[in-house]
Amino acid sequence: MITRETLLQLDATDPLAARREAFVLPANTIYLDGNSLGAMPRAAAERVRHTLDHDWSQALVRSWNAPPSGAGWVDLPQRVGAKIGRLIGARDGETLACDSTSVNLFKLLSLALKLRPDRRLILSDRDNFPTDLYMAQGLSALLGGEHQLRAVAPDEVEAAIDERVAVVSLSHVNYRNGALYDMAAITRRAHEAGALMLWDLAHSAGALPIALADCDVDLAVGCGYKYFNGGPGAPAYLYVAQRLQPQATSPLTGWFGHEKPFEFIPAYAPAAGIDRMQVGTPAILSMSALDAALDIWDGVDLQQLRAKSIRQCETFVALVEQWMPGVFEVTSPLDSARRGSQVCLRHEQAWPIMQALIGRGVIGDVRAPDILRFGFTPLYVSYADVWDAANTLREIMQHGEWTQPRFQARAKVT
Ligand SMILES: Cc1ncc(COP(=O)(O)O)c(C=O)c1O
Repeated sequence: MITRETLLQLDATDPLAARREAFVLPANTIYLDGNSLGAMPRAAAERVRHTLDHDWSQALVRSWNAPPSGAGWVDLPQRVGAKIGRLIGARDGETLACDSTSVNLFKLLSLALKLRPDRRLILSDRDNFPTDLYMAQGLSALLGGEHQLRAVAPDEVEAAIDERVAVVSLSHVNYRNGALYDMAAITRRAHEAGALMLWDLAHSAGALPIALADCDVDLAVGCGYKYFNGGPGAPAYLYVAQRLQPQATSPLTGWFGHEKPFEFIPAYAPAAGIDRMQVGTPAILSMSALDAALDIWDGVDLQQLRAKSIRQCETFVALVEQWMPGVFEVTSPLDSARRGSQVCLRHEQAWPIMQALIGRGVIGDVRAPDILRFGFTPLYVSYADVWDAANTLREIMQHGEWTQPRFQARAKVT
């Protein structure tokens, strides 16, 4: 039997509890949507203010160059990329913060096809995030349709990896149900078949430990605005294994990826290493916010983070099953080793139920048509929050609060 008191005791001894202070969180709100948009770190707001009030307004164009005269804007993609690299088990020089996840998918899928010229398939799973599938479809159309996306059921992926596959492109954690792939096993399987492996880490980086280099992963992309708390539309990142970098070429040959961008040479020549994956001028305001947000991770033990995330998810599932048996179907894997940091519940009235929850200050989201999604971000969600969120859900279901007409109205963003 889980009681609120036992959870308060867990909070009292939680080594991550103090990290919550690093965030601005609204009063009377339990935020379980950090897997969509991470909460705002105090340091990110201060940094953007400094960038506006000093670096942009006062130092102006000088800020592009290195300190002391500048703010080093021009190297921010590498510096931010390096901070992310340390959180996903990459080696130095393998990561870069840039563009959006979608654009980075396009770049990496395209370079993967070039690296495997005799192969014609991009293999994915049909439950992958739509942009991952759409970017592959667009690339295939651009290449005249000779290359195809093959999207199979998640449990058929391993068997579908064969010598026709140029690249296996998967999300490490599924956005809709939180299912977690075995990165080491699938990467090994892809390599045995001579294919490259591309992981989308949007829902796993910052939620659990990742060992890209140890798993010998070829390529990866991910978001800056979810568990990394970089702010709405924050720059994304990409990873290219060192051993591939000399042959890896970007299809988007912008001037920031040139070996000498400030010599303004008419002919394109790629920069060495990961730098060639840049396209155009980085978005400095957002990149500054992300840079400051990443400092929160200094000293965070990712094993401890994972242990807290698992305990929070298990507690939430246990409370839902204890208090509301048969009301929801838990669509996330029940085995914690196979789940990321979210719990998904199916109910045909998912939308009004979530709106009623949000009305009571418990913020999750809905994935059409019938999934309520609850993300657990151990840096700022407490164990008591988990109890309070489940208890609020119980009250809403008991009193049928969600049936009120005001909770039916649909919004553009869910
Ligand atoms: C797995 C995955 N990939 C990519 C994205 C989004 O890509 P972008 O930042 O280009 O919008 C999301 C957004 O939720 C996602 O869940």
